[in-house]
Amino acid sequence: MRWIGVVRILVIVCTLLSTWYFAEKIFVSKWEARSLRYIFGSWSCKSAWCDSWPVSGPDETEVKEEKSQKKNENKCGNDKECPPNYFAFKILSGAANVVGPSICLEGTTLMSSVKNNIGRGLNIALVNASTTELLKTGHFDMYSGDVKLVQDFLEPMKEGTLILMASFDDPATKLDEKTREMLTSYGSSFAKKLGFRDSWTFVGGKGLKNKSPFEQHLKNDKETNKYDGWPEVLEISGCIPKKME
Ligand SMILES: *[C@@H]1O[C@H](CO)[C@@H](O)[C@H](O)[C@H]1NC(C)=O
Repeated sequence: MRWIGVVRILVIVCTLLSTWYFAEKIFVSKWEARSLRYIFGSWSCKSAWCDSWPVSGPDETEVKEEKSQKKNENKCGNDKECPPNYFAFKILSGAANVVGPSICLEGTTLMSSVKNNIGRGLNIALVNASTTELLKTGHFDMYSGDVKLVQDFLEPMKEGTLILMASFDDPATKLDEKTREMLTSYGSSFAKKLGFRDSWTFVGGKGLKNKSPFEQHLKNDKETNKYDGWPEVLEISGCIPKKME
């Protein structure tokens, strides 16, 4: 009966070999798939095998990062996404005379401290209301500057130009009747009342038929201001309907 013993040993050896073979094969293929996934960062991989094992180590943090970016992926960091044929915008007026204003349209910052194109007074960006193409930006000191410069900036505007404005420090001391009238004709409700160190954000347009719904004004009041005699930040955001040709 020696051959039975030989067969038993053969069976045991075969079992061990095949176990080792399959174990290695599975382990190696998982490891390879995983490292490839890591190298290429192909997080869009949707097939069942991609998710058939727990992800740990650097993988996990990458997934988390992707998720947190998704939260804020709306243009200009807005809470809501705009429907087609609307442009996302966000405007912040300056805080006191310290933090500058910023103007964002369709995910592009048009004016900010970082872009180094803002200043005390009125900050204005002119944009094509059909395409959001930036036409020009300007900032005008309304405490000691020349209001004629604002008029010269605004007057050549063509119909279908969008005007985005933010105040910083004092937007009003030099503002005369003529300029207030111009701004009113672009849809502003507050341009006529604007006073020393008021906070103001406004989106208007040349050729606009009605008052703009995108405007905020905060009267400067020493008693109630957050920063004593200085203006507070106003933030306005939303979706501007695209001007159809
Ligand atoms: C806006 O862009 C369109 C397409 O290029 C052009 O036809 C139109 O004149 C532009 N409008 C303004 C106000 O620049």
